[in-house]
Amino acid sequence: MSCYIIEGGNRLEGAVNISGSKNASLPIIAASILNGSVTKLYNVPNIHDTQITLEILKILGCKISKKSDKIIIDSKSMQKTEIPEELMRQMRSSVVLAGAIIGRFKNTTISYPGGCDIGARPIDLHLKGFKRLGIDVEEDAGYIKCKCEKIVGNTIQLDFPSVGATENIMLASVLAEGETTITNAAMEPEIVDLQNMLNKMGAKVVGAGTNIIKITGVKKLKEVSYTVMPDRIEAGTFLCAGAITGGKIKLNNIVPEHLSPIIHKLEECGCKIEIERNSIKLDAPKKLKAVDIKTMPYPGFPTDMQSIFTTILTVGKGTSLIVENIFENRYKYTNELKRMGAKITVEGKTAVVKGVRRLTGANVTSTDLRGGASLVLAGLQAKGKTTVNNIEYILRGYEKLDRKLSLLGAKITLK
Ligand code: UD1
Repeated sequence: MSCYIIEGGNRLEGAVNISGSKNASLPIIAASILNGSVTKLYNVPNIHDTQITLEILKILGCKISKKSDKIIIDSKSMQKTEIPEELMRQMRSSVVLAGAIIGRFKNTTISYPGGCDIGARPIDLHLKGFKRLGIDVEEDAGYIKCKCEKIVGNTIQLDFPSVGATENIMLASVLAEGETTITNAAMEPEIVDLQNMLNKMGAKVVGAGTNIIKITGVKKLKEVSYTVMPDRIEAGTFLCAGAITGGKIKLNNIVPEHLSPIIHKLEECGCKIEIERNSIKLDAPKKLKAVDIKTMPYPGFPTDMQSIFTTILTVGKGTSLIVENIFENRYKYTNELKRMGAKITVEGKTAVVKGVRRLTGANVTSTDLRGGASLVLAGLQAKGKTTVNNIEYILRGYEKLDRKLSLLGAKITLK
């Protein structure tokens, strides 16, 4: 088990490059199954979650080659349609592979997915969508068997704008007969990225980024090269690392528009932000101001930034109110922050944070991906030494977090 050891108190300064998006890469890698041909992807982050997804594709029969952030997937020789249970359990987002496999082979078996323990995370909306496309879905002893003669386009109204369900339905319907319309679709930028990649492959998808997406089925897809969008949550994490240390930093390779809800909250906290075309500068005050936050589907404040922002508010001036509206169990990390001197009270989906002057270094344990990153940020501000254990969670989603923070002047080592 690895850990990060952090000596707190250094103000972050300098520039850092943001990697490709984890949450965009995963459905885009899944989409490479659909063309039965070669897919070249650029700007794919080298993190545990992309590695597992590629591992699954290899087991299914795809040929993979990888050189830093460039990945070539050849899905021509893919024949297997069953995702191994042990890999499925490691990662919830592996569920989007089902949409791509059924889309191409009209047949797939998956087990219930695993992933970070941040709530119940059912997949009922994915399966309801599949059924509306004429796919038989049979649930049996933890396995989900999906098959059909053909996939036929239909209208699918999502009860909630689920990111994964929207992506899965898009993947399942690009090779369908006729037109599929997803209403109350998720509007996240990662869905626009998936649409752009699918269209470059020859699909006909319009509307991503709004709440109505239309997919007109095509008979065949072709070879494609595609560059994955930058990771807006990694960018948000670095902005917050700058903010909690009173730092002055610049992020390169970002899409400022994707960061808009995070930027607004940082400005409310007293940070000065300067936006350029593909980069952003943050100049943090000595003391951040308390702000209130409610997580919402995009373009609202992202749930993936909730723990990270709550952490910077632990040293804000005043009291902040946080409401987590997306996942019901996303405050586990607060118990660890309390060990570092944070004053947080959690009641259901609400957390009340009373700012303290400074956190104190402690031995803490990651409870999930973003919660783990929050503890790293807390360690950067804290007095003395912080050891963050269980960083396997963090390595799932952040590329070279320790190295990038060190470049900005943090004292952090991976042990
Ligand atoms: C994706 C992101 C994750 C982010 C989340 C919300 C990836 C790989 N992960 O996760 O980082 O936190 O979006 O922005 O892209 N729900 C159901 N039934 C379903 C599906 C979802 O009830 O069939 C509920 C979930 O329990 C949750 C809410 O809908 O309460 C949002 O989940 P969803 O948008 O699907 O998140 P993911 O796609 O899993």
